[in-house]
Amino acid sequence: MTADDNRPLLVLGIETSCDETAAAVVARDGEARGRILSNVVRSQLAEHRPYGGVVPEIAARAHVECLDAIVAAALAEAGLALSDLSGIAATAGPGLNGGLVVGLVTGKTLALAAGKPFLAINHLEAHALTVGLTDGLEPPYLMLLVSGGHTQTLLVEGVGRYRRIGTTIDDAIGEAFDKTAKLLGLGYPGGPEVERAARSGDPERFPLPRPMVGRVEPHFSLAGLKTALRQRAEAAAPLTDRDVADLCAAFEAAVCDIIEDRVSRAMELAEDAFGPGRPRWLTVAGGVAANASIAAALARLAAARGFHLAVPPPALCTDNGAMIAWAGAERLARGLVDGLDFAARPRWPLDPAAPAAIGAGVKA
Ligand code: KG4
Ligand code: ZN
Repeated sequence: MTADDNRPLLVLGIETSCDETAAAVVARDGEARGRILSNVVRSQLAEHRPYGGVVPEIAARAHVECLDAIVAAALAEAGLALSDLSGIAATAGPGLNGGLVVGLVTGKTLALAAGKPFLAINHLEAHALTVGLTDGLEPPYLMLLVSGGHTQTLLVEGVGRYRRIGTTIDDAIGEAFDKTAKLLGLGYPGGPEVERAARSGDPERFPLPRPMVGRVEPHFSLAGLKTALRQRAEAAAPLTDRDVADLCAAFEAAVCDIIEDRVSRAMELAEDAFGPGRPRWLTVAGGVAANASIAAALARLAAARGFHLAVPPPALCTDNGAMIAWAGAERLARGLVDGLDFAARPRWPLDPAAPAAIGAGVKA
């Protein structure tokens, strides 16, 4: 079945690449408009919190324990049976291998049992296409992906056509927030804790570096910032609440400056993709997009550079099944189905032709 006959494509999406177990059903009509029929997410935050980070074995086990029930809930909420679906999509990478295998095996088994097409989805592609579902936005557009595992700027040229512009040569930005929180004795995940503490802090008391800012290569680097923060914190120890607030404010201000500069450079490098007089769009995804100061910095930058800004609602910026189902529907509409022998790909860059960033290649 294709979308041409105007009957909507109904796709189940399964996401298990990190610490969220998620399943959703999305409908895509013949005009490529999307509708979320259900979107069920179970976060494993509580399981990982005692360790201050995601533990792969705990994640895989938690996915195994609840994925069947999450899929059943997504179908029930959508009011559909497996036989009603047009296809079944599951995240195949990048991500933690154990979790990917759980989602893939489940998706393939359901596809085989129901005799439906199977779609192996790149998690980054799903983030990149989400604004098509939420805002009906069509490529080309520029995208900033900032989560615990990924930090990149990406030009979305079409479904299946992505140009990676910048990536991190060391830590992801969300990871840097989490490490900062840990260093300062705040909770996990660190992003919201650092943001809360920063609100009452003075961003100028502890000067911190802005690695890569002003460089022509469009990449990100957070390691030097993290080291400088640790040195400032050690020099000021024992830390009072005021010290922690000021350190958090300094860190957040540095990250905002880094993001503003690096996205600005990506805008310059993507310029050729936007024809004269065509609207220019910047979109954002990933948990870090929830940070109000970062969102404000992006809004300022977009306005200054003549870009429109599209930010999906927070629940669709962070990991979810609806984005996997939507990417599956977009691919299914183009006949891009996959075999049941598709293996998990813990590393799976969206743009394999992109040159590795110096000193990196670690972050897909
Ligand atoms: O996209 P996400 O929910 O999960 C994956 O990484 O896949 O992103 C989680 C990351 C964590 O590193 C968390 O600390 C960060 O997003 N984060 C934030 C905020 N909320 C979540 N970082 C900065 N400010 C926030 N308000
Ligand atoms: Zn993600």
